Amino acid sequence: MHVVLTGADWHKYWLKSLKKDKSIGLVPTMGALHEGHFDLVRKARQESDIVVVSIFVNPTQFHNQEDFDNYPSTLEEDLAKLELEKVDFVFIPKTETIYPEKPKLSIHFGNLETVLEGAFRPGHFNGVAIVVSKLFNIIKPHTAYFGQKDLQQTGIIRRLVNDLSMNINLVIVPTRREDDGLAMSSRNLRLSPEERKQALILSSSLTKAKQELLAGKPWFEVHNQIKRDFEEVPLASLEYFELVHPESFVSYTDFDLTKKSSLCVAAYLGKIRLIDNLPIIP
Ligand code: PAF
Repeated sequence: MHVVLTGADWHKYWLKSLKKDKSIGLVPTMGALHEGHFDLVRKARQESDIVVVSIFVNPTQFHNQEDFDNYPSTLEEDLAKLELEKVDFVFIPKTETIYPEKPKLSIHFGNLETVLEGAFRPGHFNGVAIVVSKLFNIIKPHTAYFGQKDLQQTGIIRRLVNDLSMNINLVIVPTRREDDGLAMSSRNLRLSPEERKQALILSSSLTKAKQELLAGKPWFEVHNQIKRDFEEVPLASLEYFELVHPESFVSYTDFDLTKKSSLCVAAYLGKIRLIDNLPIIP
């Protein structure tokens, strides 16, 4: 496994792979890798000749400095595990490499970015779109792999790729969960044992709401019940719990079995913000 620090460094390997007509799969990450990331890596390993994992904690997608400063980092462990997964290249750029200067460009996604994560994290998707575009331009992958846990992010990246005619195939990999249902996330590492227990409210509320909707309970009743459930969890503070169209992210006011839908939730456990989602009608 080669560790690559700059675009120039990668370029020589890229030229070799181009000559040999090899396919390149990119798994963009911010490190602190968990089994959810390894699902992406394994999928890439199955499908691509050359697997590149990037590890870069992108400052421009954090609107909260404390969240950025405390984002977990487990680089040595990450590298050891990626080696075991037979990854070919790990791209670990420095901030100055990705941002030699502050980008003047900003990318807007209309209605896609004014709801859910976009509404609560202003500027977040602009930061994601800029860094993902940079990674795509530097690595030039044929396929890029993202997790369904960041559902709205996958919608944004699909839009980016389509609107800019990027010739990149996107593969979205289902959310990996702990045995008790908690969606895997690097931020879980920052939960105290008590917050970790109470964080189960995210996945359990999604499962409960799904069952009730499919059993015919009206959405407004389900929604109100879930809000009350969150109020009973002392360390949890709900930001949103919405029933949305999984591509436009427009919230529904009623549940309809004939329309695509997903449930999306965001909540704080103490100071740690977690998100999760569950498809209802895919
Ligand atoms: O999902 C993430 O880890 C990040 O948003 C990504 C796609 C690596 C961009 O920084």
